[in-house]
Amino acid sequence: MTTIVHVIGARPNYMKIAPLMEALKTGSPFRQVLVNTGQHYDDIMSRAFVRDLGLPSPDYDLGVGSGSHAAQTAAVMVEFEKVCLAERPDLVVVVGDVNSTVAASLVAAKLLVPVAHVEAGLRSRDRTMPEEVNRIVTDRLSDLLLTPSRDGSENLLAEGVPPEKIHLVGNIMIDSLLRHLPMASLDRVRDRIPVDAGGYAVLTLHRPSNVDNGDVFRRILAAIRTIAESMPVVFPVHPRTRQRIRDFGLDRDFDGVILHDPLGYIDFLSLTSHARLVLTDSGGLQEESTALGIPCLTLRENTERPITVTEGTNQVVGTDTEAILAGYRRAFSPSASRRRPDLWDGRTAGRITTVFCDFLSS
Ligand code: UD1
Repeated sequence: MTTIVHVIGARPNYMKIAPLMEALKTGSPFRQVLVNTGQHYDDIMSRAFVRDLGLPSPDYDLGVGSGSHAAQTAAVMVEFEKVCLAERPDLVVVVGDVNSTVAASLVAAKLLVPVAHVEAGLRSRDRTMPEEVNRIVTDRLSDLLLTPSRDGSENLLAEGVPPEKIHLVGNIMIDSLLRHLPMASLDRVRDRIPVDAGGYAVLTLHRPSNVDNGDVFRRILAAIRTIAESMPVVFPVHPRTRQRIRDFGLDRDFDGVILHDPLGYIDFLSLTSHARLVLTDSGGLQEESTALGIPCLTLRENTERPITVTEGTNQVVGTDTEAILAGYRRAFSPSASRRRPDLWDGRTAGRITTVFCDFLSS
């Protein structure tokens, strides 16, 4: 029987694999194996997402945990090689751009197992971002490159990837979002976080370039405090960021900001879908706010998801206090051009299934 091995490891992976495993279950002759690398391991960063998204329990938990980039990537490689040798997969599926993604694709490529990369072709053109290195290497090694938007396909073509490897399938995260939105609208997260629907901002921050540098972090917080004078800002805090707040002694710099532990998938979707504004350095949240039609300020100098700016609700404002506030003042001006990009329609997993069936039967 044809075996497909799916790799998950970090928080942004789960919502990309869940709809795909579900679609591949119906009517296809595949045996699916789920491998969790354990790059993220706190319940709320990992297992809560597996539960919320209805993923099956992983067949393998590699338990690699945290470490330097080299240590974490190498630990995934050593353990994932054992899985590949035991399972002899016909296809390995990796998603996104985290260290687990590049590690698993390196192992599969060296064992001559075909690799499918979901969310291929995105480029920030900023190699100081570890994710950019992961994207470039993973795409280079992949046999099936499944792109979320036209710009992704164009980037790959410009890098010389043969067109027959590239498949524009749309954004699989939006499959999860649309599927869970009705449940999120019933969710009572705002019973626990005292804000009014449509009257607050949601903030997420975890990029090393923002939170590992005290000056940058302070500049961002100065803008956030000003915004918080007009509307409460809810800030679910990533573990890395929590540590930096302690390291830099920033605990008292959050006037008007409601700090909260990280949230599971449904709670977070419930929170963002009722927000007036999103402020973030996350990749996925730029896309989710575009899909939800909520203005987003991206607190970075660049984005690998330019379609969220050209078609969606996103502004890339950087990390300078005044530039963030200028973006904030522009965020609510009516704009005719806001739309959900093509193929962000909740049917991406079905299109990927078709690509896999064609590939594996040829
Ligand atoms: C990783 C991804 C990033 C993604 C983010 C989403 C890479 C290079 N980075 O960044 O692309 O946007 O996940 O969250 O793969 N920690 C915990 N508990 C956990 C996980 C992490 O406490 O469950 C703490 C540890 O101190 C750890 C630090 O967070 O050292 C960073 O974790 P790591 O997985 O290395 O990177 P992220 O910043 O989470």
